[in-house]
Amino acid sequence: MDRGLEAAVLVTGGAGYIGAHTAKALHERGLTPVIYDSLSSGYREAVRWGHFVQGDIRDGRALADTIQAHGVTAAIHFAGLIEVGRSVARPDLFWEHNVAGTVTLLSALSEHGVGRLVFSSSAAVYGQGGRGPLETIPEDAVKAPASPYGDTKLACERMIEAQCAAYGLTAVALRYFNAAGADPSGLIGEAHEPETHLIPLAIAAALGEGPPLTVFGTDFDTPDGSCLRDYIHVNDLAAAHVAALEADLPQGAFEAVNVGTGYGASVLQVVGAVGRAVGRPVPYTIGARRTGDPASLVADVARAGSLLDWTPKSSSLDRIVADALRWERCPCYGSGRRSAGKQHGAEAAV
Ligand SMILES: NC(=O)c1ccc[n+]([C@@H]2O[C@H](COP(=O)([O-])OP(=O)(O)OC[C@H]3O[C@@H](n4cnc5c(N)ncnc54)[C@H](O)[C@@H]3O)[C@@H](O)[C@H]2O)c1
Repeated sequence: MDRGLEAAVLVTGGAGYIGAHTAKALHERGLTPVIYDSLSSGYREAVRWGHFVQGDIRDGRALADTIQAHGVTAAIHFAGLIEVGRSVARPDLFWEHNVAGTVTLLSALSEHGVGRLVFSSSAAVYGQGGRGPLETIPEDAVKAPASPYGDTKLACERMIEAQCAAYGLTAVALRYFNAAGADPSGLIGEAHEPETHLIPLAIAAALGEGPPLTVFGTDFDTPDGSCLRDYIHVNDLAAAHVAALEADLPQGAFEAVNVGTGYGASVLQVVGAVGRAVGRPVPYTIGARRTGDPASLVADVARAGSLLDWTPKSSSLDRIVADALRWERCPCYGSGRRSAGKQHGAEAAV
């Protein structure tokens, strides 16, 4: 990426969880985030760095105006729908926002000469693609998404790759494993509604602010029988976006890179870590396995190190839980979401 002074980076979905943390990382790097978000699930209060434009990625005219008005030279694309379960019930919505929305964005980027893109992909593209319950997953593992959500991420990757070949766009798809934690400042954090992610749900249960946790399956082929997942601190994830934006890649290149730690933590280990941090055990019940939930999803992170010169720095489980707990005790926004009366279990998959 051409790093002119104050280079403007379009951040679609920048009012959401990972986008807000990445906007802060861009600002700290001397870049100017231009946050473009419909606020369908994001928060205006999460936008603290750079400029804000309220708009939908399916609106090509508004995207073009934003790119021109701010002199955007690169983009990071987070915007989209994220709940795996909802994607099964409403696949049409997911294809419309995630895939059609990305088509519109790609056209706007190529029409206005924006040559660099980082895309939010997911370990969901692998589905059951790990080679064994305790093996890490390399980027060239079989892609077999187990949900419409994963299908949309894989479709976007393929479309972006073709766009790179056709128009000389240079792009990196980051396949996140489980994003978790919050910025230590306490200014921004995770506030999904509904919340389906394990760590905030376990914290809410331990604090007595949410229902007891459901652990889906303790009969997997893993050391303690519960699912293994690779938890990456959201600030490490944010740093990976800056590294991907600045990576020295030839024009027209497309790269897909896992972002995780390379280590798995089991659901029961997370439950234990949250209980220690809160000072009270997490109340939980054991439920049946969920369809399509793999025993283990742990990233092979060699490529992130070699291609992006990136390694995680804040992703010990205790650090992630401590930062998440600080946020959950005193969230700056989204505090109403737990009182919505919904019952959630632990989402162990991405
Ligand atoms: N959270 C995770 O663990 C995880 C894991 C893998 C991949 N991802 C991907 O990372 C991205 C960000 O996830 P997140 O957890 O920050 O989600 P989030 O819901 O907090 O943020 C998504 C943002 O996109 C906005 N948005 C949604 N549809 C839009 C549209 N049509 N136009 C404009 N804005 C729109 C929302 O208002 C929200 O601010 C998503 O693409 C998600 O699929 C997340």
